[in-house]
This record gives sequence, structure tokens and C-alpha cells, in this order.
Amino acid sequence: MNFETIAIRTQTDRTQHREHSTPIFPTSSFVFEDAEQMRALFADEQEGNIYSRFTNPSVREFEEKMALLEGVEDAVATATGMAAVFASFLAFLKSGDHLLASKAVFGSSYTIITQYLPKWGISFDWLPTDTEKWQELVKPNTKMLFLETPSNPGLDVIDLAFTGQFCKHNSLIFNIDNCFATPYLQQPARFGADLISHSATKWIDGQGRVLGGVVAGSKAMIAEVKKLCRSTGLSLSPFNAWVLSKSLETLAVRMDRHCENALLLAQFLEKNEQVERVIYPFLDSHPMYTIARQQMKKGGGIVAFEIKGGLEQGRRFLNSVKLCSLSANLGDTRSIVTHPASTTHAKLTEQARQDVGITNSLVRVSVGLEHIDDIINDIDNALKTSAL
Ligand SMILES: Cc1ncc(COP(=O)(O)O)c(C=O)c1O
Repeated sequence: MNFETIAIRTQTDRTQHREHSTPIFPTSSFVFEDAEQMRALFADEQEGNIYSRFTNPSVREFEEKMALLEGVEDAVATATGMAAVFASFLAFLKSGDHLLASKAVFGSSYTIITQYLPKWGISFDWLPTDTEKWQELVKPNTKMLFLETPSNPGLDVIDLAFTGQFCKHNSLIFNIDNCFATPYLQQPARFGADLISHSATKWIDGQGRVLGGVVAGSKAMIAEVKKLCRSTGLSLSPFNAWVLSKSLETLAVRMDRHCENALLLAQFLEKNEQVERVIYPFLDSHPMYTIARQQMKKGGGIVAFEIKGGLEQGRRFLNSVKLCSLSANLGDTRSIVTHPASTTHAKLTEQARQDVGITNSLVRVSVGLEHIDDIINDIDNALKTSAL
């Protein structure tokens, strides 16, 4: 079946009530027929629900759908995107291991890598943009390679086919945060990715309602992540899972429109004289345009740009938008503008921000589903006002 059909028709078993839309199972625990069933379930001799920190039918539906959409065997849902990224590290890395990671990663992933993993004896090196230099960084104890593409917020694109080969050659676990692309635009397993994580809070929900995350991969690897989540309590709530599973039904149509609007906005910004530089993977000015076209179906819903005049002008721009929201989220029906240097990436040093292209004048737009003329008008007016 095709992506859209899988996203709509993967559903938990219909109950005795013959409901059409998927039911929700908001229960913390499940009942046992008798002591023997209880014993067998706890002993893993039988499959079945015990307690919602372990498994829940609403959560399982979301997991099964995500695994199918990513083209892998299994998935495990988590309370947030950061819980997913954290679990993907913790389930496989131990003291003495070494991690390679792309430097342009989400702020909290950067914090885990630089502040928490070293506390537990896990060292790391950042991967340079030039992939030819990657091999020099592989050590005998290098276990995993983690990256984000396109990255938040600078929209760096990394060659997935090359990375897949590189990880295979060096026997590394290939771990990717696929949040910005979603499985509709990019399926990293096709390039050899072993672990694919998402902040489902973003495009998967797509309406700014709930937090959630997921890690997808082979049955054996996901079993390890599940074991960790089950014991440490990283689990997703049934309500959030139900919202997210329903949202997946419309992911393809939503992403098509987000991408269409984002490309039109990027093309508009390219011609605007208040704008220094526009970054969008499907603009041919993007340094990785060719690779982006090869590995992504469309360019995604985020556009980044540098406003002329730097920090002050950036602040005036944010204060001048009327339709677009100032909010920390992305991947909503509503267009959102943010200033990463003073918000999501504020905990990084100025140097660390510069290294990953987050300048003081960088503005990130999560392009929503409002009419594109209204989005462009708002941004155009704000650019004019902030230039005065
Ligand atoms: C690329 C990326 N990964 C992970 C996260 C974290 O997700 P959550 O806020 O659901 O924990 C975010 C949040 O913005 C993100 O953009």
C-alpha cells in the first residue's frame, strides 16, 4: 500500500462497538483473566498489555504506523522528541564508547551530547561538513554516528547515501533525527539508517497540540530501546498517541501544502532587499541542493533567512509580524517565526552558534497552512517596518 493509505488505514482492532474512527484507550493498567495469565504475561511467555508504561493499544497503533511509514520493522513511542533522542543514545552507548555527531543538531540534543554523555564516560567528536575528513575521526571505540538532516534551524543537509556507506564500512550504528523531513519527505532506512527518531510534537501532530516522540528501526534494536523506555518511564501517554495517530492520517496532504508554501516564501525572500541570505533545501542556491533533491521528496516546511542589519533588525522584525506567531514550536498549521540565537539555541556559546551557522540575524520561519499570500504579506510588511 502507498504512504497515504498506510497512514489512514493502519488501525488498532475494532472493538465490539464497531467504531469507524480509531478508539482511544486511556487506562493506566489492564486486567488479567486469572493468576496464570498474569504470571505468563509478566514472564513474557504471552504477549499482551500489562501496564501503560510498558504497552498500550493506542500507543501501539501509533508505533506500528510509524514503523510502516519509515519502512522499518518496529518503533517505540516516547513522551517527547528529546526522550526519543535520549533513548536512542542510552540504549546503545556505554561508558568508554565514542560518538560521532553532526554539529548542527537541535539545542537539547547538543546539551545531551556535550554535558550528559561525557558525565557517563561517553566521548564525542563533531563531524565536519567535509565528509572526506570523517574517516580520520573514527576510533576503535566509535560506536554510533548521530545526525540531523535538514538541521534545526540552519537547514544543513547531509548526504544520507554517503553516511549509510560510511557507517556500514566502519560498523557504526547510524542514528538520525528525521524530525524536519518526516517519513513522507525522507525515509532514512533506504540509505541504511539503523535508528530513526522524531519529535512527533512537530509535523506529525502538525497542529501544535501535544508532545510526543518515536524511535524506529529493526525489531532487535527497538527491543533494546523499549526495554529502556519501559524501565525509565519515557513512555508516551495514550491520549497523545491517539492524537498523533489521527494526525498521521493527514500528514501527506499537510506536508504537501507546507512545502508548497515554504518554497513560495523562500522564492519571495530571495528577491527581497531587506534579506541578506535565504536558506531552503529546494532552492538551487542551497549548497547541498543536489543531494537534497536526491534524498528528499520536497524541501520541507521550514525556511531560514538572515535579515540585513543583524540582531537589532531581527528583533524589530519579530516585533513587527502580525499574522505569524512568536512561538518556540514549529510544524504547526500556524506560521511561526523565531530567532534561534536568543531562544532555542541560546544555551550554546556564541562561538558554538557561529560554528553551525546560527548568526544573530538568522530568523526561522515554520511555514503554516494559512493562505500563502497572507503569510507573504505579513512577512513583507514586517520586513518593511523593521527597515524603517
Ligand atoms: C530536530 C528536533 N529534534 C528534537 C526536538 C525535541 O522535540 P520535543 O520538543 O518533542 O522534545 C526538536 C524540537 O524542536 C527538534 O526540532
